[in-house]
Amino acid sequence: MAQDWTIGRAITELTAAFGAAGLDTPRLDARILVGHAVKLEPSLLFARAERVLTDEESVLVRGFAARRARHEPVARITGHRGFWSLEFLVSPETLDPRADTETVVDAVMKCRAQYTSPRILDLGTGSGCILLAILNDWREASGIGVDLNPGAVAVAAENAERLGLAARAAFRVGDWCEGLTEMFDLIVSNPPYVAAHEGDQLAPDVRDFDPPLALFGGDDGLAAYASLIPGTRGRIAPNGRLFLEIGAGQGPDVTSLLAKNRFGLVAEHRDLAGVVRCLEARPG
Ligand SMILES: C[S@@+](CC[C@H](N)C(=O)[O-])C[C@H]1O[C@@H](n2cnc3c(N)ncnc32)[C@H](O)[C@@H]1O
Repeated sequence: MAQDWTIGRAITELTAAFGAAGLDTPRLDARILVGHAVKLEPSLLFARAERVLTDEESVLVRGFAARRARHEPVARITGHRGFWSLEFLVSPETLDPRADTETVVDAVMKCRAQYTSPRILDLGTGSGCILLAILNDWREASGIGVDLNPGAVAVAAENAERLGLAARAAFRVGDWCEGLTEMFDLIVSNPPYVAAHEGDQLAPDVRDFDPPLALFGGDDGLAAYASLIPGTRGRIAPNGRLFLEIGAGQGPDVTSLLAKNRFGLVAEHRDLAGVVRCLEARPG
């Protein structure tokens, strides 16, 4: 009976169902989703384990459970994702921000001493997570995020508002650097870099829920780099820096695309798994 369904029992049942569905972190997912339904931080759930769910909460929990069991990511169900200590709204139009992408933010923050009030361009901004994380920690910086998808641009603008960063962040719909006339000190991008033929190997959480425009970089995964790097050459200040997130093993190919466009490699930045995840380059 729904009346007897306590927070504790709901978590136990969802954990078992998620385990049976082959999810990697069944208990964590169950705690987040039950917490989301009853509007309690996961850390408070244990203390309220005996509280009986209302009928409305039970319906919500069952709906969330069914969606997660079909591998819909937790962030897509709750509508937000933690990234670089901030909470970002996500939608079906945006990539669900990845922890690996914090490597790009970290790399940018390491060059702070070299710029006073930098102008930053974020290409393929999605939820706006890279640009807004940088602006949050770097009060003198300002910038623009560009995305081809108007739905993503709307979410990024809303994130800027919610985080109190809208005065220093603008967002526009566009095709990489096309139509931009300003010069930027720092250009950052996490472009789509999955090769088309790798689509079948992606986890269902990614393949079925991230927008294809955010994932796929043509036959070899390099199409977005080939298309965006030449445009950045005309928009980057002479002492500027370009930071590109890359997929595992793409370093040599993207470095050679950079060289073809007269960018010199400054550094390779590794993610927490030790994989080269971000290339830092400067106009040569
Ligand atoms: C891998 S996602 C990155 C999103 C976000 N920056 C992040 O790190 O979570 C790539 C983004 O590039 C955008 N995109 C794809 N092609 C584009 C183009 N030609 N011009 C601008 N943005 C594009 C997609 O819509 C998507 O939001």
